[in-house]
Order: sequence, then C-alpha cells, then structure tokens
Amino acid sequence: MTIEQIFKLAVEMGIGADMRGKEFVKKQLKKTKEKFEKLSKEKKADFDQEKLWNPYSDSRILFGDPKKKVKRVMVGIDVDPSELMIARYFSDKNKEIDLVIGHHPIGEALNDLADVMHLQADVLARHGVPINIAESVMLPRITEISRLIFQSENYGRTVQAAELLGLPLMCVHTPADNLVANFIDREIKKQNPETLEELLEIIDGIPEYKEAKKFKAGPQIVTGRKEARVGKIAYEYAGGTNGAKEIYKHASQAGIGTIVGMHMREEWRKEAEKHHINVVICGDTQSDSIGMNLFLDELEKKGIEIIPFSGLTRVKRFGKK
Ligand SMILES: [Fe+2]
Repeated sequence: MTIEQIFKLAVEMGIGADMRGKEFVKKQLKKTKEKFEKLSKEKKADFDQEKLWNPYSDSRILFGDPKKKVKRVMVGIDVDPSELMIARYFSDKNKEIDLVIGHHPIGEALNDLADVMHLQADVLARHGVPINIAESVMLPRITEISRLIFQSENYGRTVQAAELLGLPLMCVHTPADNLVANFIDREIKKQNPETLEELLEIIDGIPEYKEAKKFKAGPQIVTGRKEARVGKIAYEYAGGTNGAKEIYKHASQAGIGTIVGMHMREEWRKEAEKHHINVVICGDTQSDSIGMNLFLDELEKKGIEIIPFSGLTRVKRFGKK
C-alpha cells in the first residue's frame, strides 16, 4: 500500500464507524462540496480541499510522498520530535521505517481540531438531546478550544522534525476514535449490562484495558455506585476533546443514564454527578490503542509490518483460532 492508500483507508474506516451514521457524514461532505463549488476562484484557492472528501480535520498526511510504497510502519499515540528520533534510530539500526503514524493530532491537524467537535452535538442529538440545544451548548466550547490551540501550540515543530529526519508522517485521530466508540458500543450491547459493575466487567475484559490494569490504569467508575443501574448509555470517545460540561443537564433530561468515555476533567465529572449521570472512564492512551489497533489490523492483513511505540499497546484481532 502507498501512504495515500493507507490514509484513505483510515478515513473510510472512520466514516464507516462514525456514531453519527455513515449516511449523515456523506451528506455533510456533499454539502461542503456544494458550498465549495459556489466559491470564487480566489476563495477556492484558499479552501482546504481535503475537506471535500475527508470529514476529519484532525487527521492528515503531514509529510512524505503520498505515492510512496509502505512495508513497515511505526505507530504511536503521541508523536513528537523525540519520538521521531526513536523512529530514525530504529530505522537506521534495525529495519527501515517507511512511515510514522501518530494518533493525536499534529501540526495543521491539531490547529483544526475544534472542527471535529461539531460531531458531539450530532451524536447527542441521536441520544435525544434536541439539536438546537446540543449545538448552542457546544458552540462556545468549540470556539474556546479553537482559540486556545492556535495561539499556544508550536504547530510546526514535529512536522519540521519529520522533514529533517526524512520520515514520512501522518496522524489518524477521529477515525480511530470512531472505531473504538463503535467497538465498545457493540461489545456492551452484546452483553446488555444492567448495573455499573456488570458494565465495568465487560470493559475490563477488553485486552488493551486488561493490559492497562497491569500498569494500574484500568477502567474506573468515577461517578455512581457499582450497584447502580446503567440506563441509556452514551459514549465520549470521539469528537476531538472534552465537550461542554453544561451539556450534562440536557443529556440527563434526554434520558442518558451512563457515560462511558476516555477521559473527563474533574469539573465535568462533578457536573455529570450533579445531574445523576453515572460515568465510567477507561483512560485515553488505553482507548486510543483500541481504535488504532482496529485500523492497524487492516494494514497488517495487507502485509504491512507494524512496530508499536509511544504508548501504543498493540493487540491483533485477526488470525486467532
Ligand atoms: Fe487520545
């Protein structure tokens, strides 16, 4: 596979697993295309044309010839210049690395992270929160994140390092987060847990979380008693970063009983607690590993060798008897 094919596969898989539904995402892309067609020639030149087919602004090929063939990839959760040095060293001393894939957004993909946060409003709407409420509660938080990132991030650093070290680089964020959200949802639905304890048992059984437990970083009930009934479950796995804490009031009114997510700030947790929502937190890196693994399995099936680093717990879910 080429770098371009790998990236396109990530986006396609992300759309297929999107909690808003594949059709919804395709419709949004069509609308973006229609808007683009109406722009003037000058404005078209300024438009990020990747948005015409890739709905995930936090995932991009950042450096490298898209046509380059890839046999071996090094994949990590947080790729920065020091991690790239590891990849360079490994490539020189052991086996050649054709591409580095990071999970968390880098460079322009990080600067545009806020754009994927709109996803959260649509997911909440699918859980019964009126879309007008979900949108207006989320909007100030989205603009806050956008303002925070662009002024404080050293966005050029990692991409420059990749260029200097001659290492093609991409990041795959929301597509992988969609994959883990979808996976966890299916695992939980299969067993239909009644209480938080039963829910935690299902999550604990997932290999990446089992591995995290060894590091004392296993999933936890952060709000609610273990005997408490789960009610309707919603997920906070995808959508850039934590949304607006004010949403829990409305989520509770819409009938959401339990939130299962990767991470939650204390202030957010308290707000969920105030509105009687149970919260199970599974950990960021641990959950990111699951999403990346589901994508990486497809690369490995096509003969690409995967070398995990930067906190990725590699678990293969195919070829097992
Ligand atoms: Fe993450």
